Amino acid sequence: MNLGIFDSGLGGLTVLKEILKNNTYDKIIFYGDTINVPYGEKDRATLFELAKQNVEFLRKKGADEIIAACGTVSSNVLEPLKKEYDFNILGIIDAACIEAEELTQNRKIGVIATNATIASHAFKNKLKGYEVYEMPCPKFAVLIEQGKLDTKVMDEAIDEYLAPLKKEGIDTLILGCTHYPIIAEKIDKYLDGKVKLVNSGNVLSRELSNGNKKEPVLEFYVSGDVDIFKKNASMFLNVRELEEVSNH
Ligand code: DGL
Repeated sequence: MNLGIFDSGLGGLTVLKEILKNNTYDKIIFYGDTINVPYGEKDRATLFELAKQNVEFLRKKGADEIIAACGTVSSNVLEPLKKEYDFNILGIIDAACIEAEELTQNRKIGVIATNATIASHAFKNKLKGYEVYEMPCPKFAVLIEQGKLDTKVMDEAIDEYLAPLKKEGIDTLILGCTHYPIIAEKIDKYLDGKVKLVNSGNVLSRELSNGNKKEPVLEFYVSGDVDIFKKNASMFLNVRELEEVSNH
């Protein structure tokens, strides 16, 4: 079985990294639509078209099933996308909500994500009976994609977005955009290590595992600049994994 994973860019790699910990696929094909980042600022019709192109490309490359490793696509167009095709397409919303429900004790859950994800209220609508605090964080994905992790502008964005959630006393925070696990340590530090962070990749990886761990063949494709992608991606994937990056 071959798995396809797509996102607008580096975010999909946080899901891939978790999948690799328990991988049972023969081959994983990754597609980062880096030329169209940020997805979080696009309307639903555009997201649907981009998601279809990504799915069809991954199918052509041999994917049997596909993860939309993107909160924005998962929250806005997953259902219509699934209806278009007769193979399995997974999103990240359900997995993250199940984990958040298990982790929270005070039933106050924060959700940080892109503008388009927060506007869809996809997480909030699933988390019935909880106090859910939503916060759009449009600067995060762009700063991460530009490799601006340890910068003043990133620290300021963290303060701007997380101070209101901290005040509400949340005990669990859903990283509702797959880019955000890249700055999880910073978020954790800002929240004084007191808030449990939900990384959807981690949950999906456990769900997809059948205990038969394999070393998969890996193929990477990006729509934008290969070298920039390789440089930023190598911050958290090792070099062997990134040997085969091509442009599409
Ligand atoms: N990583 C994506 C998400 O999970 C998209 C970020 C973006 O391109 O705006 O929403």
